[in-house]
Amino acid sequence: MAPTAFVAPTALSTSVFKDDIFKGKVLFCTGGGSGICRGMTEAMMRHGASATIVGRKLDRLTQTAKELSEATGQKCLPVAADVRQAKTIQDAVARTIEAYGRIDFVICGAAGNFLAPIAGLSENAFRTVIEIDTLGTYHTIKATLPHLRASKGAYIHVSATLHYRGTPYQAHVSAAKAAVDALSGVVAVEEGPHGVRSNVLAPGPISGTEGMDRLEGKSADSRQMMLPLGRMGVIGDVANATVFLFSPAASYVTGQVLAVDGGSEHLRGLV
Ligand code: HXC
Repeated sequence: MAPTAFVAPTALSTSVFKDDIFKGKVLFCTGGGSGICRGMTEAMMRHGASATIVGRKLDRLTQTAKELSEATGQKCLPVAADVRQAKTIQDAVARTIEAYGRIDFVICGAAGNFLAPIAGLSENAFRTVIEIDTLGTYHTIKATLPHLRASKGAYIHVSATLHYRGTPYQAHVSAAKAAVDALSGVVAVEEGPHGVRSNVLAPGPISGTEGMDRLEGKSADSRQMMLPLGRMGVIGDVANATVFLFSPAASYVTGQVLAVDGGSEHLRGLV
């Protein structure tokens, strides 16, 4: 079968996987209305999966679902929910089961971020990001785990690389993402015997995303030539890693953190 061209927003990548490897499978993705998680969802749908995308803004989700369905020919269900509220995620899972009868793959991607020094970071600001990123991941795992046990499915948690070292103005996100990495490892160990895999994708500098816009601003252009691979990442890079981690090619891969960062974590002192 011919490789499928992958056309996520700002993508430059091409999937080398067969286009029907996820036929009959169902993806549940928090944060799928925009950005990196939208691109991850599109890649899964281009390989045959149906999807539910979850976020707070129903208008945006509905538009995204329509565009993804038109682009891929697969079903996409938009469901409004706030990952901070367990009940709303449970309801989104129930609607997914009602629509598709199963869940095979879960992307825990909903996240919040802004730049703020810890000296000026209010308790509520810190708590807000912990609640979206960490508590939201916990709620999503709890609501979906019975279905992933049934399907022997897999999780991908979208994390970051900024907490591997001290990143200024990112105390809240660093703490939240470190916890997400830890949660994923525990799920991998506890749920492996039930046939469930759990891995982390850690995007580095990915252009055209809200996260980069907020964190990098105009410095991104001057930075990219200093990255080991000589360019910023694109959403398609993360999407291709998603297809790999959910595919049978990764059936013996669990409890891992895969950084998709062009090698930037290994570059010390220059960026
Ligand atoms: C300081 C801030 C702030 C800022 C908000 N707060 N923005 N503090 N600097 N720039 C404070 C508020 O003052 C408030 O505290 C508290 O945070 C909650 O703010 P709300 O606006 O009431 O919360 P909410 O409406 O829930 O918004 C959540 C949010 C928002 C995280 C603040 O930005 C959001 O929803 N963003 C989602 C989109 C997003 O950021 N996506 C990119 C993720 S990228 P007080 O004390 O005033 O009550 C990512 C990866 C990073 O995560 C890695 C990239 C390389």
